[in-house]
Amino acid sequence: MSRIVVAGAVIDAGRLLLAQRARPEHLAGLWELPGGKVEPGETTAEALRRELDEELGVEVTVGEAIGAPVEVAAGVDLVALRAELVTGTPQPREHLAIAWVDADELAALCARGVVVPADTAWLPDLDALLRGE
Ligand code: CDP
Repeated sequence: MSRIVVAGAVIDAGRLLLAQRARPEHLAGLWELPGGKVEPGETTAEALRRELDEELGVEVTVGEAIGAPVEVAAGVDLVALRAELVTGTPQPREHLAIAWVDADELAALCARGVVVPADTAWLPDLDALLRGE
């Protein structure tokens, strides 16, 4: 059975929320769309709301999928969903830091190789969203 990991594309005022991973070692220091594993019985939207509450202390509403799923390991698919902040200011409870980036800053981070590899697949989709197309 395949497992799903869900990541959130939180966009506010033309900027995307990124979080800098603290673990595991091969991903530590890289920037990602925050999220985590979908637990049995959860929808992807429920899992994303739970993960963003646990990791960042925010309440979000979850929207449509962006881009295509990415296989991050054998039988593990990563999906990205749009999300909007409802309450709270993101705090890095489990990450090293958070950042709000515009389209140019996101492209620059991807070009520097400091974005989690799987997430770079969504650069065209995120770029279009951030530029309001
Ligand atoms: O928080 P939880 O342990 O549930 O999951 P996670 O460690 O955040 O995500 C599980 C795995 O999915 C990570 O080790 C990454 O390989 C991958 N992942 C990713 O590539 N990009 C993301 N935005 C989130 C997770």
